[in-house]
Amino acid sequence: MKRLFSAPTTANLELTDLCNVKCRHCYNFWRDESMGTTSLTTERLDRVLAELADAGVFHVIFTGGEPFSRFELLEHGLRRSRELGLSVSCNSNLMLATQDRVCRLTAVGLDHILTSLPSLDPVVNDRIMNSVGSYEKIIEGIRLCVDGGIRISVNMVITRANMGDVYETGRLVADLGVEKLFVTRSVPPTYSDPTKETDYTLTPEEQLAVLDDALRVRDEFGLMVGTLVAYPLCFLGDLERYADFAGRGCPSQSGHRISVNADGTTHVCVHEEESYGNLFDRPIGEIYRDRMRKWHNGSFRYAGCRGCAYENICESGCSMSAQAHSGSHDAKDPLFVGPHAFTRHFTALDDPDLLTAIDGGLRFLAPRRLRFRAEDGFHLLNVRWGNSFPVSDDVARFLIRHRDSGESFTLAEFGQRNRLLLARLFAKDALEAPDYAGSVSNKMRMGLSVNIDALPDQHMAPTPLEGANR
Ligand SMILES: C[S@@+](CC[C@H](N)C(=O)[O-])C[C@H]1O[C@@H](n2cnc3c(N)ncnc32)[C@H](O)[C@@H]1O
Repeated sequence: MKRLFSAPTTANLELTDLCNVKCRHCYNFWRDESMGTTSLTTERLDRVLAELADAGVFHVIFTGGEPFSRFELLEHGLRRSRELGLSVSCNSNLMLATQDRVCRLTAVGLDHILTSLPSLDPVVNDRIMNSVGSYEKIIEGIRLCVDGGIRISVNMVITRANMGDVYETGRLVADLGVEKLFVTRSVPPTYSDPTKETDYTLTPEEQLAVLDDALRVRDEFGLMVGTLVAYPLCFLGDLERYADFAGRGCPSQSGHRISVNADGTTHVCVHEEESYGNLFDRPIGEIYRDRMRKWHNGSFRYAGCRGCAYENICESGCSMSAQAHSGSHDAKDPLFVGPHAFTRHFTALDDPDLLTAIDGGLRFLAPRRLRFRAEDGFHLLNVRWGNSFPVSDDVARFLIRHRDSGESFTLAEFGQRNRLLLARLFAKDALEAPDYAGSVSNKMRMGLSVNIDALPDQHMAPTPLEGANR
């Protein structure tokens, strides 16, 4: 049975559709005759944020268009979000960043920006962004943010134009102090015909070569890597090797995401054209639980995925890519291979050193940053930012108690039979263990992206606590 949520956990909120560039791959390109026309007002922004907070949304991503082109509105939205207990991030190309603006953003609690940087080659970069000088401005914007204490992730949307640039771009941004490099699969924009515009469609071999380059970036330059658009897990095949690109799943089908445009229209994904109503006309509960529900109940999964052990994590890859290529959401993701194609499974999620330490009485803390939302028959646990996953009610109650009291606990209190769950919660950063000297191994890092609740039975999903002291 799929767990259905009462509301999304993360919202992509488009402050404005105004943009200073016209990226060739962008899902907003079609709007751009005028470089955008619609922005939220302060009053409408406040209404949306209040609605999201009331519904129990944890995290808001301010996006656009270019959010810096409505800087005061962005600043206001970040401040308001903080007052409402929402965590925040921002998508920006950073070309309009200044030292003063970076200071103002940190002052209202922004500590992370995802920036676009298609290539380290200025000519390629400027061509993709349709803007001369964009490369230099983005690099300067990254410098200003890193110096000002804002963590930066770089997003390269991979097309034929930049697929060979991953390794060198990774080297460059690592030198700049960037934290993470996303090599994001491009979703063919709705205005394009992917069968004709082959720029967006890499062959499976080319896609894997991009991921291999990203892994070299991780291993040689120490950057975290990932993708913002899901791959079918069967395409990755070797789930241990490609764990950094697995586990996110389709945010529309998992029910985690809502996307709100600057005019209030809502979508399950930023790449989607269909709207489920306007947030200024209808309550979010009606939009999410009634109109978007068809997305959440598994009915859009590709039929060829039935019986696959990873169906609940993978959700058939990217539905928007499936639609772009085949005309329907439940069609085959063009990279689908089939459940027979796995060469290595998620077999090594549990770090033996950590398990030994747990058995030896390692003490854990449930940090203050943990947020919870009660659902029907389970809780959602938010670790930080947009990282949320379901846990049983017993586990939630136990963690809330320890979060609020600040008391540490060991396996004995958590329940002997929940040893692996304890390890996984630690791997997902839901727990801290100040006395643990060992680092979480590479294999264990998989736990950070993998939804432990959706793992096949043999890998263990959270179960009710079975300990003496619930
Ligand atoms: C539309 S942009 C708006 C925010 C800002 N102007 C920027 O450049 O980041 C938001 C994000 O969507 C990504 N994006 C745009 N079109 C895409 C596509 N067709 N496939 C995958 N990601 C895309 C961009 O790279 C960017 O990270």
